[in-house]
Amino acid sequence: MRINKRMFSSLRWRIVVAYLIVIGIGFTVIDLSIMHILEKDYINDKSVAFQKYSIQASQTIANSYYDKDPNIFYEIQAMGEEFTRIEGESTRILILNRDGIVDYDSYRSTSLLRRDLSEDYPEIKTVLKGEFVEAKDLYIYSGDPPTRKRVMYSYAPIMHYSEGVLGVVLISSSLDSIEVLLNDISRMLVIYSLGVILAIILISIAISGLITHPIKDLTASITKMSKGHLNQRVNIRGGGEFRQLGEAFNIMSEKLEDLDNARNEFVSNASHELKTPLSAMKVLTESLLHMGIDDPDIYREFLTDINFEIDRLNSIITDLLALVQLDKQSGSTQLSKDPVNLADLVERTLKGLQLLAEQKDITLEISHEDDVVVEGDSAKLQQVISNLVDNAIKYTPEGGRVSIDISSGPDHAIIKISDTGIGIPSEDLSRIFDRFFRVDKARSRSTGGTGLGLSIANRIVLMHGGYIRVNSVEGKGSTFYVELPYERTS
Ligand SMILES: Nc1ncnc2c1ncn2[C@@H]1O[C@H](COP(=O)(O)OP(=O)(O)OP(=O)(O)O)[C@@H](O)[C@H]1O
Ligand SMILES: [Mg+2]
Repeated sequence: MRINKRMFSSLRWRIVVAYLIVIGIGFTVIDLSIMHILEKDYINDKSVAFQKYSIQASQTIANSYYDKDPNIFYEIQAMGEEFTRIEGESTRILILNRDGIVDYDSYRSTSLLRRDLSEDYPEIKTVLKGEFVEAKDLYIYSGDPPTRKRVMYSYAPIMHYSEGVLGVVLISSSLDSIEVLLNDISRMLVIYSLGVILAIILISIAISGLITHPIKDLTASITKMSKGHLNQRVNIRGGGEFRQLGEAFNIMSEKLEDLDNARNEFVSNASHELKTPLSAMKVLTESLLHMGIDDPDIYREFLTDINFEIDRLNSIITDLLALVQLDKQSGSTQLSKDPVNLADLVERTLKGLQLLAEQKDITLEISHEDDVVVEGDSAKLQQVISNLVDNAIKYTPEGGRVSIDISSGPDHAIIKISDTGIGIPSEDLSRIFDRFFRVDKARSRSTGGTGLGLSIANRIVLMHGGYIRVNSVEGKGSTFYVELPYERTS
């Protein structure tokens, strides 16, 4: 019962039922109209024909009737047979006198002879006055048991040029053949209509199946996806809304899968990065424990190494936390919108990095236009500059030069940081903003990098509605351009 209920509330059945109702109503209206028109047409034809026959009969017999010629019976009998033959309906001709009493009957039956019919058929009196009466069809009940029959009556006065109206010709004709014909036609119409309706039901079941198939596919895919199988794609067929829906779904599931992969990769990269200093510490402590060394200098040396690894661990965790924090914020609009003077910001940032540059005998230069101000979060923007200048110093050999320039473009403020360092291989340029990406893993590890600095900087700049571009020639140096909009719209 429940299954049935659900089945009939499905889109597919609703479509079928809707088709059925519309087509059913359509066919009923059409069938009824056809029957009505046909019937009117047939009856009209017959009534015109019999009207003519009764006039023809009255003219033919007028003189014989006036002369009281007994052959008149044969005349009406012959005419009755003639009309029966032409119309295919049994036709009876009655001659009534001035008082509405039957004088002759083409059927030669005695049942009506000498009977006054003017009471039963009031039209007779009208005709006797010389007036015209239209042929009329009636239902009569006759026989035993009584059966319904349809009969057409037509009347015409028998006129004499000097005596006026002598009597009435009354022609009665059964309409059986029309009834049979109409019944046949209506039966055919019903059968054909039912046939067409059945065909339409089958077709609409098929069509609605085609319509609902993509929805079923999609539902199945979404269900699987919600259970964790993210690699769902639906087949895209046809066009229109279902195509768009399918494409949107595929794009969404691809994005989800990418996100899932990125998350997995991030976790495995992070674990790997955290494991490296931990393994180093483990080796160092185990050697101290098991080697039985008494020399305090060696202790000091090992502990210094351990301390270095702890710092490294600390900086990785700090960076990871910063990234997670940025990810959280990029969804919302929590970022503050304070005016930030870029020259001031850079000066402040460089103070912390000056010592680093001096240690490597690197010249730090700064040039700037005045009053280049953008909207944003100064602490985060400071981190961007700090990461970029830190890289420039880190990846530039001793005696090199790092220069920073601040200028204002038409719709962006531009911070340009260039160095005379080792540069970046062009095949790696597209990946340097990826998390944990380092051009030379071994070399960077010794310089303490984790490969998170640029991805953090990039994330922050994107949050400000800007972007970072980079030019680099291996062995010559690199230039990073940070372009920030003056006003943040997001
Ligand atoms: N100015 C530069 N010159 C040459 N290579 C660079 C420069 N800046 C970045 N790189 C390359 O891009 C990589 C990624 O830089 P990123 O700042 O993200 O990581 P990192 O400096 O290695 O580590 P950290 O997370 O400590 O910043 C670096 O490892 C380095 O190979
Ligand atoms: Mg860095």
